[in-house]
Formats: sequence, C-alpha cells, structure tokens
Amino acid sequence: MDFRYTEDQLSIQSVARDFAQKRIAPVAADFDASGEFPLENIREMGQLGLMGIEVPTEYGGAGMDPIAYVLAMIEIAAADGAHSVIMSVNNSLYCNGILKFGSEAQKQKYVRAIAEGKDIGAFALTEPQSGSDATAMRCRAVKQADGSFIINGKKSWITSGPVAKYIVLFAMSDPAKGAKGVTAFLVDTAKAGFHCGKTEPKLGIRASATCEIEFTDYHASADEVLGAEGEGFKIAMGVLDAGRIGIASQAIGIARAAYEATLDYVKERKAFGVPIGSFQMTQSKIADMKCKLEASTLLTLRAAFAKGETEKNGGRFGTEAACAKLVSSEAAMWITHQAVQIHGGMGYSKEMPLERYFRDAKITEIYEGTSEIQRLVIARNETGLR
Ligand code: CAA
Ligand code: FAD
Repeated sequence: MDFRYTEDQLSIQSVARDFAQKRIAPVAADFDASGEFPLENIREMGQLGLMGIEVPTEYGGAGMDPIAYVLAMIEIAAADGAHSVIMSVNNSLYCNGILKFGSEAQKQKYVRAIAEGKDIGAFALTEPQSGSDATAMRCRAVKQADGSFIINGKKSWITSGPVAKYIVLFAMSDPAKGAKGVTAFLVDTAKAGFHCGKTEPKLGIRASATCEIEFTDYHASADEVLGAEGEGFKIAMGVLDAGRIGIASQAIGIARAAYEATLDYVKERKAFGVPIGSFQMTQSKIADMKCKLEASTLLTLRAAFAKGETEKNGGRFGTEAACAKLVSSEAAMWITHQAVQIHGGMGYSKEMPLERYFRDAKITEIYEGTSEIQRLVIARNETGLR
C-alpha cells in the first residue's frame, strides 16, 4: 500500500474540499434546521464527478479508484453529514452494485444519469420487521410464466427514497430457500405500483430524505432483474462491503470537522486565566481525538485499497470494510461527544456546529449494519464460527 496519493486522488479531493467549504458548509445548518433535500447541490456535485467517482467515464462517472472516493467523501462529510450520505448511497450502494452485477444494457440504462447527478439512486434492503436480520425480509417477488416478476411488500428507512429515480431492490422470490431465495431488481419509481411513504423526521443527517416505500403489484420485467435469480442476498452483502467504506469515510469527515473546531476553540477559550487547551485533561482528550482520527483514516484507506485489489484479483474485503466502519463510526461518536464537552455551553448551542456533528455522527453506528453487526461479521470471518 502506497501512502502517497496520485494526482487523480489529490485532484478529486481538492474539488470536493472546494465545493464542500464554499457551497455546503455555509448552508449546512439551514438544511439541518429545515430538513429540506439539497437537490441543487447534489446536481452540482454530479457535474463535478462526485456522484459517480468510481464509475468509468464511458458510463458518465469520474473513472477513479476507491481511495479517491474515500478522500472525496471525507471532504463532503466534513461540511455536512446529510450531503455525504446521499453521495455515499448513490456511489457505493447504487452505482457500484450495477457496475459489479449488471448487464451491459443495464449499465447503459441505469448508471449514466445517476453518476452525473441528474437523477438519484437508492438501495432498498431493510423492512419494518427486518434490519440486521436482512434475510427475514417479506417483500415478495412472484415469477410469472414470461420470466417477469410481480412485487408486493414494504421497505423501510430508504435513503433518498422520496427523490430517487431508480432503486436497487431486494425481494424474496423463493421463501423456502432463505438467503438463496432473494433476488435483486432495478426499480423505476415512475412505474405503476410504486408508492412512497412520508419522509421520516430524524435526529441527524436531517436533510437526507428517508422514507418507507411500498410495492403493490409492481411489474418487473426479466430485464429488470439485477444479477441472477436467487443471487440477491450475495449481491446485497457484496455491495454493502463497499458501502461500509463510504460510511466509514462519512464518520471520519464528521469527526474531523469536530476535531478541527475543537483545536481552534481550546486555544481561544480561557478559564482560570489560561487557554483551556493548557489543561492536561483537555490535552489528553485532544491526543485521543487525534489518534482515533488517524487510526480510522488508515483503516478506511486500507479497506479502500483492499477493495481496489479485490476488484483486480477477485476475493472479498468484508473484514477490512467492517473494521473500518466499526472503528471510524465509534471514533466519530466519541470525538463529537468530547468536542461538545470541550466547547462547554457553546457545544450545546445551535450557534455552533458541534451539536449537529454529534447528532450526525450517531447514525454511522447504526446504518449499513450496526456496530454489533460489524463485530459479528469480523468475528465470523476471523473464527469461521457462526
Ligand atoms: N459477500 C458475498 N456474499 C456474502 C457476504 C459478502 N460480504 N456475506 C455473506 N455472504 C453470503 C454467505 O456466504 C452466504 O452464502 P452461502 O450460504 O452460499 O455461503 C449468504 O450470503 C448468507 O450469509 P449468512 O448466512 O452469513 O447470512 P445471515 O443471515 O447470517 O446474515 C449478516 C449475515 C451479516 C447479519 C447480514 O444479514 C447483514 O449484514 N445484516 C445487516 C444488514 C445491513 O447492513 N443493512 C444495511 C441496509 S442499507 C443501509 O443501511 C444504507 C444506509 O443506511 C445509508
Ligand atoms: P434491528 O435489526 O432491530 O436491531 C436492533 C438492535 O439489536 C441493534 O442494536 C442491533 O445491533 C441489535 N442486534 C440485532 N441483531 C443482533 C445480533 N445478531 N447480535 C447482536 N446484536 C444484534 N436500509 C436500507 O435498506 N436502505 C437505506 O437506504 C437505509 N437508510 C437508512 C437511513 C437511516 C437514517 C436509518 C436510521 C436507517 C437506514 N436503513 C436503510 C436501515 C438500517 O440499515 C437499519 O436501521 C440497520 O441495519 C439496523 O436495523 P434495525 O433498525 O431493524 O435494527
């Protein structure tokens, strides 16, 4: 693994940082307060190549590697967690899944406009009764004589559900087969039989739109099956390995923003006649924040590197991705918590962004597999036991 970044990686990092600081950071608090979806910014991020970073240029993307994706995600997340999750789902759960498992015709039809940010993509696995236990899904796809499917059921907590043009959907096509009975579909939200529920009010990442979606006799043609029938669960798990690198990067961005604000504050704010950064108790927190941030960043770059190598050589990178997500999300929660504490009353005030960072950090321990599920994945892979 090379610790020096390539010109491409540095260039997308710089593009993302510039956009994040000039266009997102100044409005992030307003979007958080209103909960409005930042559609115009997302479209512009698409024009800059940020909505399809690893998508080859022939399908409308930036044609870069997983390290470039991590660097750009961190910059966007440092300005706003909500923008970064919209970017992460679009890049790693939607585009990545179709690139990896889709036919040439599907890549042509479903990737370009989404990678360019003209339309938005989503990923629907979770249901009201099944989150961690994803194979307990009830959304049902019944095969017809002509090879098409009729889909009925609900999916919950779908990021970008209210605004998505297309959704990668997982439904049970053969309940008797459990995980091997799940099939993946490419859903067009403009078609009959697709319904969107109300947008969920949330603790953090409030400008990202999350909703329940429902299928009533939705007709999916054979061309709209992603991968092979019955391979859906493996597709979901493989795609989530990539997604977890995106969420790890989101966590690092949020934590970095909280850390940088804290570094400024401890030098300015005085108590007992000295800057609060002079107290050893504060210094200890600063040192631990720095170490956790560095460790998270290295693990996440390591996972991105493993993803790049895996794509060349085959194999899985699930352990690396789960380690990165687990460590980075728990670090983000700890760092934002300490950042609020070090800011005292101002940490609790909406006049400063610390309370928003704290609220936004929490979700990184929950979605794309809770911390308990990351531990389960790592321990199962390491021990071979279930
Ligand atoms: N890649 C490919 N295949 C995989 C895989 C991977 N990483 N992990 C598992 N599989 C395969 C297994 O090999 C197995 O197939 P075989 O029987 O042929 O070997 C099959 O999938 C079933 O695997 P398990 O028996 O391990 O399945 P399980 O029922 O025990 O569940 C789990 C495993 C890890 C708990 C899984 O259900 C899981 O990850 N749950 C969390 C769900 C999740 O992360 N949801 C996120 C939703 S998206 C989201 O959240 C987006 C957002 O917020 C922004
Ligand atoms: P549960 O599975 O009910 O878990 C409850 C608790 O039990 C958790 O603490 C969990 O860790 C613990 N637990 C469960 N099983 C075990 C076990 N085996 N061992 C130890 N502890 C366990 N899903 C999508 O498909 N697409 C999306 O775009 C999407 N976006 C989301 C956006 C937001 C804002 C949120 C909140 C969720 C989103 N999700 C999405 C769903 C998300 O992935 C799930 O919420 C998450 O996987 C946890 O599932 P659950 O909420 O059903 O919790």
